[in-house]
Parts: sequence; structure tokens; C-alpha cells
Amino acid sequence: MRLKLRDWEMSYDDTGGSPATLRKSQNRLPLRMPLLLIHGFPLDRTLWSAQTRGLADVARVIAPDLRGFGDSSVPTGAVTMDTYADDLRALLDALGVPRAVIAGLSMGGYIAFAFYRRHASRVGALILADTRAAPDSAEAKKGREDNTVLARAQGTAAVAEKMLPKMLTPQTLAARADVTNAARTLMSRQPVEGVVAALGALRDRPDSTPTLAQIVVPTLIVVGAEDSLTPPQDAEQMRAAIRGAHLAVVPDAAHLANFEQPDTFNQIVREFLHSVG
Ligand code: MLT
Repeated sequence: MRLKLRDWEMSYDDTGGSPATLRKSQNRLPLRMPLLLIHGFPLDRTLWSAQTRGLADVARVIAPDLRGFGDSSVPTGAVTMDTYADDLRALLDALGVPRAVIAGLSMGGYIAFAFYRRHASRVGALILADTRAAPDSAEAKKGREDNTVLARAQGTAAVAEKMLPKMLTPQTLAARADVTNAARTLMSRQPVEGVVAALGALRDRPDSTPTLAQIVVPTLIVVGAEDSLTPPQDAEQMRAAIRGAHLAVVPDAAHLANFEQPDTFNQIVREFLHSVG
């Protein structure tokens, strides 16, 4: 589906509210609030295909392409995590959704923090997957600059190839060609301008550590046991700092835990949504 915003269009999937799904779940989804899924970098809404399909019997599931990714248009100009957060609020406004469970993976988590700071009344619960609160170190900022140069010179496929070894576990990279190729294709097809804009937003994002103590909604933190980009230690720090937060570790998964182990990930989220509902 597509939504016209001021000077660009946002694409999104919207599942779980259809009459067929409602019939299956006896005319009422167990969770009244929709689940909004925010993808990471450099990805798009199809990161969440197993969730938009697999969780549609629990909640209405909305998965947008952030500006500059997937089928959404590439607006000109710089973006920040606040820009993405405000785009998502505009989507919820347009869909008439007052409150949602806001779920973000990695960069999606950085955006979820920005969304909470700016639009807390729209957040019923949070799911923070394979993400962290800390900003980029000087070395990480340098990495963003290098990737910007690489994307401009050689295209997004080169950035994808560089990032792929950190996205999935060595076992998956060696033995699950379907998952590996799907992740590679997903990253490679993102538009250079969208990727470059996001690299600036990633580099300049603020420290979300002070936000953690302000979170008062039910919060689930999920992390792949083998995630080296946003490791389980970071997840544990967030759990300790967010009141009442629950942490779940997904075995045999790296950074894209929902993509690599969708059944385990969905089961964890399903239990959380039932507890929220
Ligand atoms: C992501 O998956 O969104 C990125 O790896 C986040 C990052 O590079 O900090």
C-alpha cells in the first residue's frame, strides 16, 4: 500500500486486520493496538515478511519502508532519526491509529527511541530488537564516512557485501544459502541516496541512554545470541535501565534475529503481545 505524504510517498504492508484474519481469530484480534515494525539499515519492510505473515493472528501488523528504502520514494535532503520518527507518526495519523506497539530492529530501534521521545503518547509498548542506546563512537562515525564513499563509488551492493558477515551467523552463511542470498538481495537493492542519507542519520544520532530511564511502557528487548554489531551485553544494559523490561536471547542468530530465526522470534513476540494485550 502507498501513502502520499507532503513531497513523497511511503509504501507499507498492513496485515492482520482483514475480515479473513478476524474470522480466524473469532472476530477479534487478541491485541487491540497494531504492531508497527521499523526495519534496520540498509533494509526495507520485507525484513519483516515472516512477522507480517506470522503475527497477523495476534495483531494488525504495519510494516513501512522508511523514506529512501524499499518502494518508498527518496526525498531530497538530510534526514535524522527524528525525521524517520515523524514520518511514522504521520503514517499512524493517516491510518487513524492512536497508539501502537512500536518495534524496531537496529536502526529501527534508534528510531523507536526518537519516536518515544517525540510521541510518547502514541506508544503502547516497545520492542527493541538487536539495537543499542549508545551513539556512534569516533571509529563507528569513521565507518559511516567510509560506507558513504563506498556506496557512492560502487553502489549499495558493495556496502551489502561488507555488512553481510555481521548480519547472519557463520553457520547460516555457510549452510543456508536461501537465507544468505535473501539478506544479500534485500540489502543490495536499496537506493544509494536513501542509504547515504541514513548513514548521516546513523552517524549523527543522539545518545539514547538518558531515554531508557524515561520509558514507562511494557518493553521487550530481543537479541541474537551471536549478534556482534549490537551484542547481548548492550541488550542487557538496556534491560537493566528500563523499568520492568524483559530480555530474550535468540539462539543461533546474529544481527537479523527475526530474519534468521523467525519462528523463535515470533514466539517471543507473540508471548509479549499476549502479556500486553
Ligand atoms: C542496522 O541493522 O540497522 C545497522 O546495522 C545499524 C547500525 O549500523 O548501527
